[in-house]
Amino acid sequence: TVLKPTTIVIFGATGDLAKRKLFPAFYNLYIDGRMPKGFNILALGRAENTDENFRNYIRENLENFSRKKVTSEDWAGFQAHITYFQHQLDEENSYKSLYQKLEDLDKVYGTRGNRLFYLSIAPNFVSVISGHMKNASIASDPKKDRIIIEKPFGHDKASAIELNNLLSQTFEEEQIYRIDHYLGKETVQNILAFRFGNSIFEPLWNHRHIESVQITVAEEVGVETRASFYEQTGALRDMIQNHLLQILCMVSMEAPASLESGEIRNRKVDVLKSIRRITPEKVNHYAVRGQYGKGTINGVEAKGYREEDGVASDSNTETFAAIKFYLDNERWQNVPFYVRTGKKMKEKHSYITIQFRPLPHSTFTDGPSQLSANRLVINIQPSMDIRLQFMSKKPGLSLDLEPVEMVFNDFACQENSPEAYETLLLEALSGDLTLFMRSDQVEEAWDVMKTIQETWEKTKDSSFPDYEAGSWGPEDSNALVARQGHKWV
Ligand code: BG6
Repeated sequence: TVLKPTTIVIFGATGDLAKRKLFPAFYNLYIDGRMPKGFNILALGRAENTDENFRNYIRENLENFSRKKVTSEDWAGFQAHITYFQHQLDEENSYKSLYQKLEDLDKVYGTRGNRLFYLSIAPNFVSVISGHMKNASIASDPKKDRIIIEKPFGHDKASAIELNNLLSQTFEEEQIYRIDHYLGKETVQNILAFRFGNSIFEPLWNHRHIESVQITVAEEVGVETRASFYEQTGALRDMIQNHLLQILCMVSMEAPASLESGEIRNRKVDVLKSIRRITPEKVNHYAVRGQYGKGTINGVEAKGYREEDGVASDSNTETFAAIKFYLDNERWQNVPFYVRTGKKMKEKHSYITIQFRPLPHSTFTDGPSQLSANRLVINIQPSMDIRLQFMSKKPGLSLDLEPVEMVFNDFACQENSPEAYETLLLEALSGDLTLFMRSDQVEEAWDVMKTIQETWEKTKDSSFPDYEAGSWGPEDSNALVARQGHKWV
């Protein structure tokens, strides 16, 4: 598709996300010739600054954060599209000047009133900004204006509904692009291609052939400089409600009739609705939380969570969560979906494991247990590949079997793989909502979390910290899967 000329307005352009992800993504899209013919990035910041100064600041950061090399020639072309504008988020007059600025820029860059607003700011500003935008008649054309919003979308179901209602006073649902950056990852998108672009996997993709599914998103990093945010958030809200549930949807959804965005998003909502809701008494049976203590990661000593800057010395925030979900639908009856995520774990590794059922009878041994059942592993990051494990004859004169792996790893040539933000920004520029979260998706995902969230909030876990930094999480997480004879793999 030919992209419409567009002005991209970044609220919070001097912040961390803009510097690490947004500008590098726009720059890489630009080098790839993927930006619209006419475009302008209007960077909003509180302080006074000149275009030139701001451009220099962006250039310095590109050196660190851009996937592609920054050459003088490319930079010269790109920088001419950046404009800085001093703006106060909470001042009405500032929006009046912004209105005028946008009109002026349309004339310079030929952007014809097409605008993409990026709210790269703390969530408590969303309502202020959208209110002021409405009053100042900024973003008043549903055909030309779009808005991108970052998570968190509320902190529970009620606040998500409130936020959605509030946004709906200024924007139509079709104008709102809620980012879950995991949906922009190459390997996550490939799940759809893998499942629905082939005829051999889908017939097996159900409870008759699959015994369990695991989704792990393990991080080596701790809370870094985000303690004040993280203390109020924890792993359940920060990762499971969004990223892990989205991956779960991709793995388990029914085949969409087409790639039309409404279609795919409907299928995902179906999954979320089918997730079994549990009662408070069952929370301990289905969910495990943990918090890291001191430890060692890659030979380097690591602090415990409670010793991190900005974290309370008796903090009860979970830095690890593991949950067993069941999907009450025809396809997945009684198949456990285990998900887990944690900070300061042994290694950075996100992957999905599809565990097939063992053979009912084995020709080769006395019982099926001596053969490894087939397993499919989809590695999301940092390794990006798909591995199918199956049994094969050992080379040699006797008929002995051994497990072997078939590997697809084309994504491994990573310099060619776009970053999640490149993919998502390009989709937003082209007006495709598929990879973004619709309001009902967000609300339903909070609904899935509700009982666990409320129960954990009401009760402290006196065993915290209960896993060592550099481990795979608390012992209870192993017990959670062991109850059904499973193991994290
Ligand atoms: C963010 C969370 O959404 O995702 C962070 O707020 C987390 O806490 C990050 O570290 C992980 O993203 P990625 O792409 O590094 O796996």
